[in-house]
Amino acid sequence: SLDSLSLEGSGFSEEWFTNILQDVTKDLNKYGVCVVDDFLGEERADRILEEVRTLHSLGVMQAGQVVSQHVQDQARGKIRGDKITWVTGDEPHCSSIGQLVNVVDYIVAKANKHYDAGKLAQYNITWRTRAMVACYPGCDTHYVKHVDNPNGDGRCITAIYYLNKNWTPNDGGVLRIYPENCSDIIASINPCFDRMLFFWSDRRNPHEVMPAKIVRYAITVWYLDQKEREEYLARE
Ligand code: OGA
Ligand code: OGA
Ligand code: MN
Repeated sequence: SLDSLSLEGSGFSEEWFTNILQDVTKDLNKYGVCVVDDFLGEERADRILEEVRTLHSLGVMQAGQVVSQHVQDQARGKIRGDKITWVTGDEPHCSSIGQLVNVVDYIVAKANKHYDAGKLAQYNITWRTRAMVACYPGCDTHYVKHVDNPNGDGRCITAIYYLNKNWTPNDGGVLRIYPENCSDIIASINPCFDRMLFFWSDRRNPHEVMPAKIVRYAITVWYLDQKEREEYLARE
């Protein structure tokens, strides 16, 4: 549960946290998307990158699943070309990833209960998925335009942390978001090192990962609305 969290021992100040909380609540309400740069600082980000590289080199990452079980391996690569593994943070080589998730939990939980939560207040965010560590191995691997939660599976906020040092446009792997109701406004989000991104997981934010020319790492967590998740599980 996300109720009993604390910043204590995290090394982050209340001021750091208050600024981010304000941005997240304001930008999600205004744009449905929020980008936070230099999220954890280089040292922490380096430790996370090191863990992700270790997971990659250990060969634990598997091809990402697509919704339809009938899609064959070959076709799947045309939809999404990432390799993923799910972690809680308690596994070997995952403690810094665990700390990242704790900090994001804290921000999302506080934003959800913020006096100025706005649209966020319609959710009761009590849990989340595990962290999905994803690698697009280059060679134009991509993820076609999709909605994370088109059919009410409980996921309300997508939170993605990027780990790509000295990213340049030649590296590819830009995330394009096509917000509903803004037909000509496309958000192009470069997957830069130590960048944190939040967006609504539902039909408001169709998005795609453009072809990655070199290895591209990210960690994603989905936050769950309790009622929508329970209703989803009840009809599954
Ligand atoms: C998913 C999902 C949960 C988990 O695949 O979208 O919700 O913790 N996974 O593995
Ligand atoms: C996803 C996804 C975006 C990204 O895994 O569902 O859209 O920028 N990822 O990695
Ligand atoms: Mn997605």
